[in-house]
Amino acid sequence: MKKNQSIIVGLSLAFLLATLLVFWRNAHPEWARWQKLYYQQQSAQNAKMEIISVVPTLTGKPELCTTCHIGIEEISPSHPVDAFGCIICHGGQGETLDKNLAHKTLRRNPSDFSTVAQSCGSGQGGEACHNGMAHRWQNMVDRVQRSLQATTAGAIAHTRFTFGMQKTPHPIYGASDVMSDSVPSPDFPKSLKSIFHKIRMDSINGQVNATEAKFVKSCLTSGCHLNTAAAQKPYFYRASGCAACHYLYDNDGRYKGADATINKNETGHGRVHQLTTAIPFTQCNHCHNRGIYSMKQMRFIDRDDLHPDSLGFLSRQRRRLKEYYIPMAQFSKCEVSLECIDCHTHNEVMGGGFIYPDKKSAVEIECRTCHGTVVEPPEERIIRSAEQRDVFIAGYNPNYEPQVGDTVAVTAKGTWLPTVYKRNGRWEQLSKLDGRVFPLPLAYGSSCEQNPEKQDSHSCHVCHDESDH
Ligand code: HEC
Ligand code: HEC
Ligand code: HEC
Ligand code: HEC
Ligand code: HEC
Ligand code: HEC
Ligand code: HEC
Repeated sequence: MKKNQSIIVGLSLAFLLATLLVFWRNAHPEWARWQKLYYQQQSAQNAKMEIISVVPTLTGKPELCTTCHIGIEEISPSHPVDAFGCIICHGGQGETLDKNLAHKTLRRNPSDFSTVAQSCGSGQGGEACHNGMAHRWQNMVDRVQRSLQATTAGAIAHTRFTFGMQKTPHPIYGASDVMSDSVPSPDFPKSLKSIFHKIRMDSINGQVNATEAKFVKSCLTSGCHLNTAAAQKPYFYRASGCAACHYLYDNDGRYKGADATINKNETGHGRVHQLTTAIPFTQCNHCHNRGIYSMKQMRFIDRDDLHPDSLGFLSRQRRRLKEYYIPMAQFSKCEVSLECIDCHTHNEVMGGGFIYPDKKSAVEIECRTCHGTVVEPPEERIIRSAEQRDVFIAGYNPNYEPQVGDTVAVTAKGTWLPTVYKRNGRWEQLSKLDGRVFPLPLAYGSSCEQNPEKQDSHSCHVCHDESDH
């Protein structure tokens, strides 16, 4: 064969192959692969492959995402697929079935603080969702970013003060830049500057304080704060931002839902594609009770007594004692049988809208909020309207239905606990996780031997300790 001929043959062959590939691709588009896998996983025979288009009522624009993501769980009853679709939260391109194009400008976690204002804070048309509302308490995006769980302001200020880097323990820095429009008292900062930015500037100017740099590197990046990524290991797996609490992760970090595109053998995924307000203590403990921070060594020391797969035989209470509380800590019965969110108010977990200087200023729940003291019953309020702020918020819990006329407990700062109520003269508490009802014993009128002036939990734990050491 002459040289020219072989080139022509070669080119023709290449053309033929390319044409065949196009035909093959058209006959086997990527989306069909995911639908096939989905039907296989669901053991559904002869299911029809088809392009699925959703036109969410809030945007009116077609989205083809669920053609591949067929089977994905509806994110929550408050965000139904028909109304929200996917793009309002995730971004991306709706009118293509090419994965790379569809995922262009995608936000994997819309609630991460880098994008939360655009996704959770406003709808597509810029209307107010979880921000920009009439009342401070409705603006979750601002609240959460100012909360201690996001800023870590107290720990940063305390450390810098202890090591002589600032003159008072009043917070100056946080884990990110943050501002507040108001302060309830002069102890509360109006704004915080990012400590990460400070360290970067210090290093550019050649003025790094080695102790401070070590603290920031080993504490603030170890995966305990809302705006940092989680450590990728059992127990610690979680998302960032709002999803750190509202999107549940199992301790093994594996997906158990029906979307075939999400690899079930890979770690680092939530349990299912769902947001919830019924948050179990396991979720809080992806950050809490995971170890201790050693000031001396300037590092976070993980617990070495955790074994995710070997404790299944224990009862719920024993397992919780073993697995979820720092060894050596003391707890009374309710701290083991109730959920964290049964005691800690929405103001404590999401912040009340202010920049808190330390834990003391943020925590409001007390043992006496529910138990009263030996000389006083719990302070109480009567629900006159389901629109009252705390009743309205609790109403989002799937297990609680607000009851006008109920007498409920209230913290000294004035936050109501609608799930701690008195009916027919008897106090009870409904658990927000599963709706279980516990009779609530009062210290008031009992033979409890407490000193009514000493109401901090440590004073109670001296006599009321359920831990097994
Ligand atoms: C052609 C099929 C296809 C289409 C169309 C598609 N996806 Fe995906 N998507 C996948 C696959 C497969 C994955 C798994 C990760 C990967 O391979 O990139 C994925 C992963 C994701 C993830 C997780 C990303 C991550 O970093 O883990 C999100 C969020 C997502 N898709 C949202 C969307 C949205 C929103 C749309 C529509 C705008 C969409 N997808 C359209 C196939 C598709
Ligand atoms: C209300 C906002 C919201 C809506 C609407 C929404 N998602 Fe999500 N999605 C989230 C959040 C939050 C996560 C958790 C991110 C994480 O774990 O980092 C998530 C996670 C995902 C993931 C990754 C799961 C994993 O473990 O890899 C995929 C894929 C996904 N969404 C696809 C979709 C699709 C498809 C739709 C439309 C049917 C949709 N989402 C609608 C908020 C939303
Ligand atoms: C540290 C955990 C945590 C984080 C982070 C968090 N939440 Fe919450 N959120 C909760 C808990 C717990 C409740 C339930 C409160 C109750 O039952 O009283 C709740 C309740 C809610 C409710 C229902 C009550 C209402 O007023 O509508 C909404 C909406 C909400 N959160 C949105 C958000 C948004 C948006 C973000 C991120 C900007 C966020 N949350 C971050 C823990 C958290
Ligand atoms: C992303 C990690 C993370 C998650 C998830 C998390 N927290 Fe926290 N939490 C923190 C950090 C960090 C602090 C601040 C500690 C400090 O400054 O010393 C904190 C502080 C607190 C405080 C005391 C200060 C305050 O703001 O009230 C309470 C109470 C609390 N968390 C309860 C909860 C509950 C209940 C949940 C689950 C609904 C939860 N946390 C989930 C990281 C987290
Ligand atoms: C039975 C009610 C109850 C339950 C359940 C409960 N707490 Fe608390 N928590 C309290 C009280 C009361 C305080 C205030 C401590 C005091 O009075 O000394 C507190 C204090 C805290 C603090 C601040 C402590 C400090 O270092 O200053 C954090 C953080 C916290 N709780 C997290 C959690 C987490 C996470 C869970 C779930 C694993 C949880 N709590 C479960 C009642 C409870
Ligand atoms: C949000 C309400 C609430 C708070 C706050 C609370 N408890 Fe309880 N407590 C309960 C409930 C409900 C029970 C019943 C639990 C059960 O039956 O498992 C209970 C049970 C107890 C008991 C067992 C009484 C008996 O039957 O022998 C003791 C002791 C106790 N709590 C002490 C405390 C201490 C100490 C604190 C503060 C750290 C505290 N409680 C905070 C609701 C609360
Ligand atoms: C000096 C020991 C002591 C201290 C301190 C103490 N208690 Fe008690 N408490 C008791 C005894 C004894 C009882 C009666 C036990 C019984 O009847 O089984 C009791 C009973 C109770 C009961 C249950 C009442 C009932 O009807 O079952 C509650 C609730 C309670 N205490 C709460 C508290 C709280 C909250 C504190 C801290 C502010 C506290 N106690 C501090 C010794 C103590």
